Amino acid sequence: MQHLLQISDLTRQQLEGLLTHAQRLAAQVPLTISTSLAGRTLINVFYENSTRTQVSFELAAKRLGAQVVNLDVRTSSMQKGESLLDTVLTLEAMGCDFLTMRHPQEDILPALTPHLLPTTHLINAGDGCHAHPTQALLDMLTIKQHGLDFSKLSVAIVGDTLHSRVTNSQLAAFDLLGTRDIRVVGPAELLPDTLPFSYIQKTTDMATGLQGVDIIMLLRIQRERMPSSMLPNADDYFTQYGLTTERLALAMPQALIMHPGPVNRNVEITDDLIYHPQSTILQQVTNGVLIRQAVLTQLIENTIY
Ligand code: NCD
Repeated sequence: MQHLLQISDLTRQQLEGLLTHAQRLAAQVPLTISTSLAGRTLINVFYENSTRTQVSFELAAKRLGAQVVNLDVRTSSMQKGESLLDTVLTLEAMGCDFLTMRHPQEDILPALTPHLLPTTHLINAGDGCHAHPTQALLDMLTIKQHGLDFSKLSVAIVGDTLHSRVTNSQLAAFDLLGTRDIRVVGPAELLPDTLPFSYIQKTTDMATGLQGVDIIMLLRIQRERMPSSMLPNADDYFTQYGLTTERLALAMPQALIMHPGPVNRNVEITDDLIYHPQSTILQQVTNGVLIRQAVLTQLIENTIY
């Protein structure tokens, strides 16, 4: 495995191996700083905004002893007309082991890979509405840490699944791990017409969606990916789909409240529930660093140059 562009690049065994690796890291208290990637370089190339993903790739690499460069794309030579491929080849020529890229366009990452050196690992940090594999991995890690059995899990994914690369990657990961009770919930215009697996249920009714689930996975309305005419009014959305204490009671008593972030308070979820004891929102963030440490390590260890 040279690159990680989507969950389907992984076998079930590789995915489980990454979760086990990250769980071992989580058990290390105090945090261990290693030198296992000393001499390696990671370059973050983010063409879309990010807080969690970019910082956690940086911290993950630094905790493994690698050097990190964050390319500021707003001031890079792309503004002078340099193509993305030429930018990437330029970064590679300076010595780059990991290229973590976030881009609004789908299909751009696979187009780059034939041009990369065999020693460069391209990691998808979110490409348009397509995929965000490390987010799905950290979400699976969070669920695993709660001792839940993926084959017995009921999951509701609530919100803008139509534009969600996070959902696409989560659905692929849940499938590999054997989860079959999955409901996507939201306004009809934000639900995809086709879903990747026939067992996934689709509903516009929040009560039907949340009934008896173990996981409530909330999503942000991705305003940047839709015309304003399609955008639901935030108050109406909250009234119909916002997670409140009353709605939480429809799920299993210890159901996990998950959200990849960034959260829009009182749109997807009421203020009171964001850091509720059942919320894993910050645990997901913590796990983001661990899972990325596991991914970086495994990409180096499992690639035959
Ligand atoms: C998500 C993303 O950018 O894909 N956030 C994240 O990486 N944690 C989801 C979003 O932007 O809503």
